[in-house]
Amino acid sequence: MKVTLVMAQNQYGQTGKDANHLSKDWVPKEDMQNFIRVTKRAGVIIMGNNTFKTIGKGLTGRIIVVLTRSPDDKPKIDGVVYSNDTPEEILASLSEAGYTEVALCGGPQINSLFYNHITDAVITTVQTEEKWANEAVYMFADPERSIELKEEDVIETSELTSNAIVRTYEFT
Ligand SMILES: NC(=O)c1ccc[n+]([C@@H]2O[C@H](COP(=O)([O-])OP(=O)(O)OC[C@H]3O[C@@H](n4cnc5c(N)ncnc54)[C@H](OP(=O)(O)O)[C@@H]3O)[C@@H](O)[C@H]2O)c1
Repeated sequence: MKVTLVMAQNQYGQTGKDANHLSKDWVPKEDMQNFIRVTKRAGVIIMGNNTFKTIGKGLTGRIIVVLTRSPDDKPKIDGVVYSNDTPEEILASLSEAGYTEVALCGGPQINSLFYNHITDAVITTVQTEEKWANEAVYMFADPERSIELKEEDVIETSELTSNAIVRTYEFT
């Protein structure tokens, strides 16, 4: 199963000023087309419940698997499946259902949960005026359960705007 990490970061590897800083407030709106392209190609998005709360609805043409420790008390939303299965169980059942790629879309807790399954990444890097201070969040909640984005793994680079670049990585 191809597991493609889809995230935005700044040039310091930070993914938000703090836990409540939404990407729509600092990532150029042009990145939405990129997000749609990759997530529609996969057909399935995996994300944590905190990230899902910032969207709050299903997305056309994609299933969203939302990780939560209490899936049974959640409202029914079209196109959304709440799960507390392990990454291995989730990926196996998606594979059985015929999916060959999933888009892993954060946040840091869920990226760390799936870190050893990540095969690819599409990362938008936005230049911010400054490095954010102490409360800034990063791509992975646990540095021990994270992957490194190395220049040698980049297979494609495209300029999104004058201050944002999208890099596609393939990890071997
Ligand atoms: N820059 C970007 O591209 C980007 C992308 C996505 C998110 N973000 C940011 O990341 C932040 C949210 O990240 P986060 O780390 O706080 O939250 P998160 O990873 O989105 O979700 C965490 C939640 O996932 C559930 N969870 C965690 N471990 C689990 C496990 N082992 N099994 C089942 N469920 C589990 C829990 O939900 P319950 O509490 O329901 O049990 C937990 O509260 C937001 O600020 C968002 O804007 C940035």
